[in-house]
Order: sequence, then structure tokens, then C-alpha cells
Amino acid sequence: MIKCQKELFEIPDGITYLNAAYMGPLTKRAAEIGKVAVEQKLTPWNIPVSEFFDLPGRVYNLSAKLIGAEPSDMAIVPSVSYGIAIAAKNIPVLAGQKIVVMADQFPSNVYPWKELAEEKGATVETVSWPSDDDWTRAIVEAIDDNTAVVATANAHWTNGSFIDLVAVGKKARSVGASLVLDLTQTLGVVPFSVKDVDPDYMVVGAYKWLLGPYSYGFMYVAERNHGGKPIEESWMTRKDADDFTRLVDYKEAYESGARRFDMGEKSNFIHAPIAAEALSLILSLGVENIAAYLKTLTDHIATRARKMGLNVVDEGKRVPNLIGINFAGGVPENISSALEAKKIHVSIRGDSIRIAPHIYNDFDDIDRMFEVFEREL
Ligand SMILES: Cc1ncc(COP(=O)(O)O)c(C=O)c1O
Repeated sequence: MIKCQKELFEIPDGITYLNAAYMGPLTKRAAEIGKVAVEQKLTPWNIPVSEFFDLPGRVYNLSAKLIGAEPSDMAIVPSVSYGIAIAAKNIPVLAGQKIVVMADQFPSNVYPWKELAEEKGATVETVSWPSDDDWTRAIVEAIDDNTAVVATANAHWTNGSFIDLVAVGKKARSVGASLVLDLTQTLGVVPFSVKDVDPDYMVVGAYKWLLGPYSYGFMYVAERNHGGKPIEESWMTRKDADDFTRLVDYKEAYESGARRFDMGEKSNFIHAPIAAEALSLILSLGVENIAAYLKTLTDHIATRARKMGLNVVDEGKRVPNLIGINFAGGVPENISSALEAKKIHVSIRGDSIRIAPHIYNDFDDIDRMFEVFEREL
């Protein structure tokens, strides 16, 4: 298992940052790489044409490695909502069919489905919160012969309850439904392989657990969907785009694989090198190792919360990186300001305090947070 990696980051001693689910920090090295990238724009004559394609190429390779995919299955997207819009544009949904989502799912993976359902005369079926926190069973039970799409995640973003995507993928395939995943709250810190789950589309924002820049993310498109329609018609997605002398020899054909789904200006000379550095770090530490380390922290949170009689999701039903302490009557009002006063950063989501440790946190951070809980609750 890895040790705490705080030395890679610039988190001052007085700050307890337990909020990667809100926004992950860059490492010092990634920030340096970003500064060099910004400065490169002072002298654009030094940006070689090859960078237009080599930079995204690095990102396809690294992001594919993270999920057991081929680089040709990956596209670069600016946001989760953009990736989900691509999925919604391409999945055939018939009148009367249903699209399955979870209660209180993150809106970027809900609004496009509501829109599509309205357009097609289909319905969005919202799976209610399971009283035993077993989302896997609840979602699997909701999928039937009438299901066109299952739009879900590896964890509920508000409290970290776990969804077994292998089981969900199996059930979706058995009824011919498409599986669309938003892994923004788990990818990079919870093991995931497209070989095991076989989703149709998977999207992830890079700015949280992947420790990357904002307005940047990745999308996996299964090979069977490579013939679909993109959102935009960027010149860079067409055949022979790398021949800058012949760009107005307009081409009907796209580049092969998932290239057609890339966002315009995918070569982002500032974001791409930062994202590549962040992905390289996560790959070098190993997702399994990161997950094992974070589990020690969330298990410690669960043990201390239970000792105080507080309510958390059971071990085995939660992901290693995210844990919600649930308050049936709502989160007590004094907690936010008490945590803030001690510079302890967590999120309040619904009736839960959501605690999201990453590789820079250790047991001391958690104990500092519990000092406040014990005083205030
Ligand atoms: C589960 C989840 N998905 C997606 C996002 C971000 O979505 P978008 O990239 O569309 O802004 C967030 C941000 O909090 C999130 O928690």
C-alpha cells in the first residue's frame, strides 16, 4: 500500500482539505508544468504543429490505460454534460421505453435524459433511495425488457454508497439496454475496467479525483458505437487533419475510432500537459493502491462516526474514497461554521456531511475533524 503523498502538494499545515469530491488540487509538479505551458503561449512560434496531435495522443494513451481500454476508444471532452449529450444523441430510445437513473443523481447525467425522454415519448424512471443502501440491487431490479438506457455511476455522489457496475452491466446487456456511466466521483481512486463492465459510454471530469484541470475530461466510447454522430464537427476529427496545407480539401470521412467525438480545440496546450502529468501520477501510484490507502481513512471515519452514534453507510456498501455522515433531520446548522473556523473543508450534500479524502490526507486530518464533531454534536 502507498503512504500519504502530502509532500507532492502545496497544502499548508493549517488547512485540512477533505473535499476532493468538490475539487482536487494540482500537484506542485503539475502546476509547474502548467506554468511552462502558459508561458509557451508568450512565444507561439515555439509551439510545433505536431503538438496539436501529440498532446491529445498522450492523453488518449494514459486515460485508456486507466480503464483497460484502447487509446482509439477515448475522446477528450470539456465536461460530463458534453459527454452525456453525445451518448443521448446516439442511443436509440423508442416511445414507451424507459431510462433508469438514481434518485438525487448528479444533474449532468439526468437533464439530457429528461430531454431525450420528452422528445421520444419515453420516461425517466428514478430508482428510489434503498433503505439498506444497496443501490446495486435497487438498480438491477429496476432494469427490465422495457429499459433503453441505464445512466448511472460507481458511487452515489452525495454519500459514497457503492454501485457494482459489473452486476449492473450484466443486467443491462441481458435486456439490450445501453449503459452510460459518469465516473467523476470515483475514477482514478476506485478500480474500474471497461473489460469487466462493458459500458456503452463512460465520461469523467478530470478536476476532482483525477487531480487535473477544470473544463477537461475524458470519454470512453465502446467500439460498437464508434460510428455515431458527434456534437460538433471539428476539423480535427476529419481524416488527414494533420496535413495543415490541405484542410480545405473537405473530407467526408472521420478519423477512425472515437476521434469524431473529441471536442473542438481538443489539443488544449495548457490543460492537456497538466492532465497528462496528473494521470501519470495516478497510474504510477496504482489505482488499487490508492483505493487501499483511502479505505483506511474512510474506515477510520466510519469507526469514529459510529462511536458517536452517527449514521454512515456499512462497510462493503461504500466506496473507499467518499463517505457521508447522514443526519435524518438535516445536518445541524452549527457544524458548517465550526468546521470553517478550524479550516476543515468538507461538503454538505443533502442530509449528509460528505467527506472526501485523497492521497494527501492522513489520520491526523480525520482526527482534527472529529474533534469538532465531538465538541459540536
Ligand atoms: C458526479 C458528478 N458528475 C459530474 C460533475 C460535473 O459535471 P460537469 O462536468 O457537467 O460540470 C460533478 C461535479 O460535482 C459530479 O459530482
